[in-house]
Amino acid sequence: MDIRINEVGLRDGLQSQGKTLTVEERLKLAEALAGAGLRFMEAGSFVSAKAVPQMAGTEELFPRLPVPERIQYAALVPNMKGYERAVAAGARTVNVVLSVTETMNQKNINMSLARTAEVCEQIVTRAADEGINAQAYLAVAFECPFEGPVAPEVVAHYGERMKDAGAGKVIVADTIGAADPAKVDTVLGLLLKHLEAERLSCHFHDTRGMALANIHAAVLAGVREFDASIGGLGGCPFSPGASGNVATEDVALMLRSMGLETGIDPLDLVPVVREAERLTGTALGGKAFRWLSRQYGKTRGGQGDDQ
Ligand code: COA
Ligand code: ZN
Repeated sequence: MDIRINEVGLRDGLQSQGKTLTVEERLKLAEALAGAGLRFMEAGSFVSAKAVPQMAGTEELFPRLPVPERIQYAALVPNMKGYERAVAAGARTVNVVLSVTETMNQKNINMSLARTAEVCEQIVTRAADEGINAQAYLAVAFECPFEGPVAPEVVAHYGERMKDAGAGKVIVADTIGAADPAKVDTVLGLLLKHLEAERLSCHFHDTRGMALANIHAAVLAGVREFDASIGGLGGCPFSPGASGNVATEDVALMLRSMGLETGIDPLDLVPVVREAERLTGTALGGKAFRWLSRQYGKTRGGQGDDQ
C-alpha cells in the first residue's frame, strides 16, 4: 500500500448530522466501510453526550465493530476521562485533539490551549505506558473560525510537543477547509523539520473545494496518510463554517488514477455512499460520485444512474 486512507465518517461525519444514528445504524455503516476495504477508521468519540449526542453509545459500538483483527479503529478522546472510557471499551488507538488556538479549545472542550496541550501530553504519555497507540490531531491548523489565520510556526511548535510526548502520528487538521496547496506546503515543510513524513497525516475539509489539491500538495511533500469521509459526510458542530470532509471516494479515485495504491477500489465505495445516504437521510457524494456511479452501473449492473 502506498497511501493509507483513514475513514472518519463514523465520527467527524456523523457527529454533525441533524439525525442521530443508533448504535445498530452506526454498525451497519462500519460494516459497509469494512466490506469496501477500509482498514483504518475513526469509529467514534468518547466525549460528553450532552456536548455531542450523536456520539452517545460509542461504548456499545466499539466491542461490536467488524473484523477488529484486520482493522485499526481509533477513538477520539477529549480528556483523561474519555481516554479511560475508550480503553475500557476496547480501543487500542486513541486520538487526542489539540486545537492550536485559544478560542477553539474553549469552544470545543472548555479548556485553555495551555491546559489542553498538557492534557494531551498526559494522555499520550499514559497511552505509551499502557501499550495504546496515541495519535495527536492539531485542529484549526490553517485558520481558526474565531481567531483567523494561524501562523505555521505555531502548528510546528505543537506538532513537536506532541511528537516529543510520544504521539505515534501527528495529524494536521484543516477543520474549516481554509487551506490551499501553498499553505499546505509551508506548514508541512516546517513540521517535516521535526518529524519524519511517516509520522504525519493530513485531515482536509472541502469547504472551499481545495481538499484534493491540498492532498496532492501533501503527497508531493511526502505525506502518506489522509483522513477522508464517505460521501463527504461531515462538518464540525463547534466550528462555524466547517463543511464536509473530503470524500473518501474522491481521494481513492484520485490516488488510484495517479498510480498510488490505497487498497481501495473506488467503485466499491458507490454502494457505501448510498448506504450512508440512506442511514443519515442526507444527500451525499463527493465530486466524482456521479461519474463513479455511472461506471458502477456499466460494470456491475444494478442502480447505476446518477440518481
Ligand atoms: N466523556 C463523558 N463525559 C465526560 C467526559 C468524557 N470524556 N469528560 C467529562 N465528562 C462529564 C463529567 O463527568 C461531568 O459530568 P456530570 O455533569 O454528570 O458531573 C460533565 O461531563 C462536565 O464535566 P467537565 O469536566 O466540567 O466538562 P465540561 O462541561 O467542561 O465539558 C467536555 C468538557 C470535553 C466533556 C465537553 O466539552 C465535550 O465532550 N466536548 C467534545 C467536543 C467534541 O467532540 N468536539 C469534536 C471533536 S474535537
Ligand atoms: Zn474534521
